[in-house]
Amino acid sequence: MPVPRLFSLLTLGVAFAAVGSHAFVVPRSVYQARRIVDASQLLPTYDYIIVGGGTSGLTVADRLTEDPDTTVLVLEAGSMPIAEDVLPVTGGGTQRQVSYIYVSVPQKNLGGQIFPVILGKMVGGSSGINAMMSARGSAEDYDRWGNLFGKHNKHGWNWQGLLPYFKKAFSFNPPPADIVEEFDVKYDASYWGTESALDVSFPSYQYPGLQPMIRAFSELPGIEFTRDSGAGGAGVYWFPTFMDPVKHERSYAVNAHYSNLGRPNYHLAADTLVRRVLLQHGSAKGVEFTMQNQTSPTQLKATKEILVAAGAVHTPKLLQLSGIGPKRVLDAAGIETLVDLPGVGQNFQDHANLGAEVTLEGLQAIHPNGNDLVTDPEFRKLAEDLWATNRTGPYSIAYGNIAGWLPLTAISPGRFSSLAAELENQDHGAYLPPGTHPTVVKGYAAQMRGLASAMRSKDTVFARYLVNATTGPLAPILNQAFNRGSINVDPADPFDSPPLVDFNGLSNPIERAVLVEMVKFLRRYVSETTLASLQVNETQPGPDVVTDAEIDAWLPSALTPSDWHAAGTAAMMPLELGGVVDQTLRVYGVKNLRVIDASIMPSLPGGNTCQAVYAIAEKAADLIKSNA
Ligand SMILES: Cc1cc2nc3c(=O)[nH]c(=O)nc-3n(C[C@H](O)[C@H](O)[C@H](O)COP(=O)(O)OP(=O)(O)OC[C@H]3O[C@@H](n4cnc5c(N)ncnc54)[C@H](O)[C@@H]3O)c2cc1C
Ligand SMILES: *[C@@H]1O[C@H](CO)[C@@H](O)[C@H](O)[C@H]1NC(C)=O
Ligand SMILES: *[C@@H]1O[C@H](CO)[C@@H](O)[C@H](O)[C@H]1NC(C)=O
Ligand SMILES: *[C@@H]1O[C@H](CO)[C@@H](O)[C@H](O)[C@H]1NC(C)=O
Ligand SMILES: *[C@@H]1O[C@H](CO)[C@@H](O)[C@H](O)[C@H]1NC(C)=O
Repeated sequence: MPVPRLFSLLTLGVAFAAVGSHAFVVPRSVYQARRIVDASQLLPTYDYIIVGGGTSGLTVADRLTEDPDTTVLVLEAGSMPIAEDVLPVTGGGTQRQVSYIYVSVPQKNLGGQIFPVILGKMVGGSSGINAMMSARGSAEDYDRWGNLFGKHNKHGWNWQGLLPYFKKAFSFNPPPADIVEEFDVKYDASYWGTESALDVSFPSYQYPGLQPMIRAFSELPGIEFTRDSGAGGAGVYWFPTFMDPVKHERSYAVNAHYSNLGRPNYHLAADTLVRRVLLQHGSAKGVEFTMQNQTSPTQLKATKEILVAAGAVHTPKLLQLSGIGPKRVLDAAGIETLVDLPGVGQNFQDHANLGAEVTLEGLQAIHPNGNDLVTDPEFRKLAEDLWATNRTGPYSIAYGNIAGWLPLTAISPGRFSSLAAELENQDHGAYLPPGTHPTVVKGYAAQMRGLASAMRSKDTVFARYLVNATTGPLAPILNQAFNRGSINVDPADPFDSPPLVDFNGLSNPIERAVLVEMVKFLRRYVSETTLASLQVNETQPGPDVVTDAEIDAWLPSALTPSDWHAAGTAAMMPLELGGVVDQTLRVYGVKNLRVIDASIMPSLPGGNTCQAVYAIAEKAADLIKSNA
């Protein structure tokens, strides 16, 4: 086994030789759009002021400044990335220092534990620290967004309407031909674009230990191998990494939508905290912010609109500090309510990490594997040389590229239908915190009814089973959310304290039942397939946890209610369903104010959120340009 793999590694190294030696010099990024470091450099007004220079903020700033007559100012709390934060990223580097690191409020259904809340705090936002996994979720996830508006569904908030924006957002680079052949990789470039400066691509190497885990999926009933990760289906598929195809460097909001644009109408101030949006007669007129080392805040007007892109954790905080939010929450914090909007900070959701741990000890006998990088000096030297010379080989792998993205019909053929019926018929309000506004309860009920029909579909992803060639299947991720939490200002210190993040994890009994089914599927996957011969070692929940009731009782000790995919806190839904923005992303009850980030997702897609955020931002830019 090792010999042919090494051979193919070498041929791959040669295949990329044409890129030329300049490709391996790590340049310091050149920031050509105008960098504002002092308030005296600001224009007297801007057409648009964007709060938050992260994933969505920079994307929209780029699109709006394509018109040289449009002036845009981006205000970002974090710093400019330094070169080593950006490049190179091997092994899926995540969670570097440029982050907000908060903790949640104690989770009552999870034994009172607190959990980390981690977000990018830098120009580039979370796209600068994330794990670079590029996934899209299911077509039906996006159709459910538009369905919440019933017959008033407009502006194409559904799969067909968003697909052109997924294409606009990403340039697709297919996997290397020898990997396609060796692993029988399916892909279909027609679900992707070629024009964006944001690249998705594949590593130049994959470990052979993936083969039995891919085969094992095909040995179980109801699992399809879909045509492409971007096709909106569910099943087993290969998915790309947010990186360029040559240097295998992170491709993210900064190098795609800011650096080297050279536009004098695109201004950006880093290290600048926006304190509030300024309203006058129901209209957003400007913002108040503090630049680095400034003693007193600056107020600045926008002649057209304020666009909020502070991310799903800070956008509700900013709106609430600006007097826009649930009166009950604002009263408690001593903030005057200018617009009583009950949905702000509610409908908070994230994916959950199940915490089950299974190792396939037999993978150690399949070489090369990840451990050989440590234990086999010859393999390590080869890998290091390939990376140093040609930026290919094992070090070009980030966090993995293949997973089962499975529908509930495959995870639980026996129970999906009865669980869906139970979800439809439950008293939804009973699973939200007491005192939740009736419109928010109504919105949750509408979402759960939509989710119930998705539970019966073979095309909606409910769980991700990512496989690792060195260790086996990684802890499964629940890729839909049944519970809803909240993110509100801390009444004790609304401006300076982090917001109170409550996942309200494990609150809905149907979620618990689905998680139990996910554990049982994991067990079938490793015991009723090819994988049974690879010395299955289940350490969590472990062999003593057998019955459904025992698995259910294990959940609170193992589950993490976050997969770093915060969303939903300024949801695009009808006002009477607790929505915060309409289908043009305008905040209800306020003129000239839109939200353009992950907060607007009514519900999560069945995949990691970054692709959806870029597509939302691309669509938002068109809505803004057309004055929709
Ligand atoms: C650790 C981690 C790993 C992840 N892994 C993946 C992955 O592998 N694949 C994937 O698809 N998704 C992943 N995600 C999720 C994805 O990165 C996010 O959903 C997406 O980047 C969010 O984009 P956004 O524009 O909504 O917010 P962000 O990109 O977070 O941008 C918000 C920006 O606003 C700034 N800001 C906040 N408040 C203020 C204020 N008051 N004034 C000025 N600026 C402010 C912040 O500093 C930040 O830069 C991950 C996220 C994290 C945190
Ligand atoms: C890198 O590519 C060059 C040019 O094709 C090739 O000669 C060299 O062997 C490659 N380096 C490694 C370590 O494979
Ligand atoms: C701001 O203050 C920091 C130290 O707090 C200093 O390093 C930096 O140079 C100052 N920046 C400006 C623009 O004055
Ligand atoms: C798999 O797991 C090993 C061990 O935890 C880790 O070092 C490696 O980065 C993971 N990814 C791949 C692709 O092997
Ligand atoms: C199973 O995994 C645990 C934890 O990694 C390890 O301590 C133990 O030795 C493994 N058991 C076997 C039989 O390999």
